[in-house]
Amino acid sequence: MSLVLYDVVDGIARITLQNPPVNGLGFAVRKGIVEALDQAQGDAAVAAIVLTGNERAFSGGADITEFGTPKSGWQPTLRTVIEVLEQVSKPVVAAIDGVCLGGGLELALGAHFRVAAAQAKVGLPEVNLGLLPGGGGTQRLPRVLGLETALDMIVTGSIVKASTLADTPLFDRVVETSVVEAATEFAKELVRQSTPLKRIRDLNVTQPDAQAFLQVARKNIAAASKHQPAPRLCLEAVAGSASLPFDQGLANERKLFLQLMNSPESLALRHVFAAERAATKIPDVPADTPLRDIHKVGVIGAGTMGGGISMNFLNAGIPVMLLEAEQAALDRGVGTIRRNYENSMKRGRLTQEQLDERMALLSTTLRYEDLVDVDLVIEAVFEELGVKEKVFKALDAVVKPGAILASNTSTLNVDAIAALTKRPEDVIGLHFFSPANVMKLLEIVRGAKTAKDVLATSIALAKKINKKPVVSGVCDGFIGNRMLNSYRAASEELLLGGASPESIDKALEAFGFAMGPYRMGDLAGLDIGWAIRKRRQTENPDADFSAVADRLCETGRYGQKAGAGWYRYETGNRTPIVDPAVDKIIEDYRAEKGITTRTYTDREIVERCVYALVNEGAKILEEGIALRASDIDVVYLSGYGFPLHRGGPMHYAQQIGLFNVVRSMRGFAAQSDKAAEFWQPARLLQCAEPGQALK
Ligand code: NAI
Repeated sequence: MSLVLYDVVDGIARITLQNPPVNGLGFAVRKGIVEALDQAQGDAAVAAIVLTGNERAFSGGADITEFGTPKSGWQPTLRTVIEVLEQVSKPVVAAIDGVCLGGGLELALGAHFRVAAAQAKVGLPEVNLGLLPGGGGTQRLPRVLGLETALDMIVTGSIVKASTLADTPLFDRVVETSVVEAATEFAKELVRQSTPLKRIRDLNVTQPDAQAFLQVARKNIAAASKHQPAPRLCLEAVAGSASLPFDQGLANERKLFLQLMNSPESLALRHVFAAERAATKIPDVPADTPLRDIHKVGVIGAGTMGGGISMNFLNAGIPVMLLEAEQAALDRGVGTIRRNYENSMKRGRLTQEQLDERMALLSTTLRYEDLVDVDLVIEAVFEELGVKEKVFKALDAVVKPGAILASNTSTLNVDAIAALTKRPEDVIGLHFFSPANVMKLLEIVRGAKTAKDVLATSIALAKKINKKPVVSGVCDGFIGNRMLNSYRAASEELLLGGASPESIDKALEAFGFAMGPYRMGDLAGLDIGWAIRKRRQTENPDADFSAVADRLCETGRYGQKAGAGWYRYETGNRTPIVDPAVDKIIEDYRAEKGITTRTYTDREIVERCVYALVNEGAKILEEGIALRASDIDVVYLSGYGFPLHRGGPMHYAQQIGLFNVVRSMRGFAAQSDKAAEFWQPARLLQCAEPGQALK
């Protein structure tokens, strides 16, 4: 099937892109457009041309499957197509419906006229992939929208409805009816009236005090995008539209585009883009697996997690039945949900009407019988198998056949939970992260007996509630917390070896983590980990992990909420202050254990903490707990604040080179017997061939 259709009716040539799903501008489409334009140009019977797509998309832009392949550079490139389009001597009208994004909008900007459906979505979102619009968008958009609006759209990558730009020279007409018909009528009118062609390249950028405006924008953008070069270079490309002749501005855009294309930051963002899409595909679960209907959800436990989990469904318009053991806990939980919504309302993110709608979808109960009609139940009660056992047995007795029974457990064995019921195939782990109404990650824990349609339904549901799902196998801590344990062990090793909490935090924050492990610990509360360690120590008395943290807790230093943890805090202020009392606790502990200390460079701190993540990630991959290295990256980026511009721990390790990572780890291993065990490189890291990707 041809990806570009060509037909002529009443002297108007119509060029229709048909490359599902979004008319990506791959090589065959680009070639097809140029050939169609040449045909129209050469046909004396053609008076004007309409270039269009379909209702779903004029064009979503570059074909992502071509990214990083030679095809994306094959002639005609998008720039050539746009140049050919612009130089046609007959009027070309772009008829725009659906999405018109990135290269798609740049293509439309090459046409002489544009007719858009009011609902069409336009934007240049390249910045989100660490790039800038490289098909003339930075030069043409400011010429039709003005410097300020164009700069804002390009730097933020925002997508807007055509109707909001109806009064600008970007569109000649914005219509509520069929765009193709409207564009065809318009083309005929242009021919009748011999309207001169409008080429955007011939317009000037109008902006009073352009240089002063750009100066202010430069400062703001630099401050807002410390780790990403793309917003800054977007600005520099746009600035060229105001100061350079068109062709020079285009050359400048090209130069800056290539700079970004080869930047590690863009490579990382493009990796993340592909990784998030890959994570929703499970090799042995066909894409057309029939899904179970989820019309109503039950949530057990109205504590920290249960409340946040409920909000996700309420926000998506799905009714929730919230069950608690006691009325007081139920009232507290509902009160917290309401307060959260009221706070969103105060910040202008929610209207009273929306708040009322959401609260109306929430019902509460103390009786399991009220869960008979739910399609999915998520349990979020205390983290004790005994308590979970009671809940799952009660659910098994009342919930209708075919309903999905999920646990939000963060440490317990999902298979053991499934075995508590007579329907283990309906049981799955849905591990949300705190605050559950905010955090994007959802670890979906697939038990040994979990049915494929339960897994497929959970993934689809995750997308519906705006989460990023990643499937994990069953193991202690699943993907994320298991890696977090290794990260913490590495920072503990540094702490005992002579590094201070603030030096570790600072090094990791400079690497790009939003917060180092000690600031994070203070924020989350140190007592939670303490309780878990105490429980683990009764199971395994040899475990001495985080002994210093235990001592802090013994003196009531539970973190920010107690005014003291790894740092000190003044009342009402979250800024951490270095506390000599903490140094003393650490030093005493080192002295007791006879540890000789040394200094660590920032680089070694980062290497140790990040490579600990990488090594555990590789083991998780070897064991088949994660399906792909890129799934691990999604977990760490969306659930644990790993710096986005580094693309996730596994991507980062491959950028550094696995040889170099393993070599550093061997150096750390040489320092003690205990270190030798911890830093034993995973087999997968050792045997990867140079240049071979971790899969
Ligand atoms: P929480 O202590 O805040 O809430 C638990 C709630 O369950 C309480 O309101 C309690 O009254 C209720 N409950 C206890 N037994 C019950 C029963 N038999 N029937 C009905 N309700 C009962 O605990 P949180 O933090 O919400 O944790 C819940 C679960 O989520 C645990 O399995 C935990 O491991 C997991 N989790 C917690 C995260 C966190 O950051 N807090 C993150 C991810 C998972």
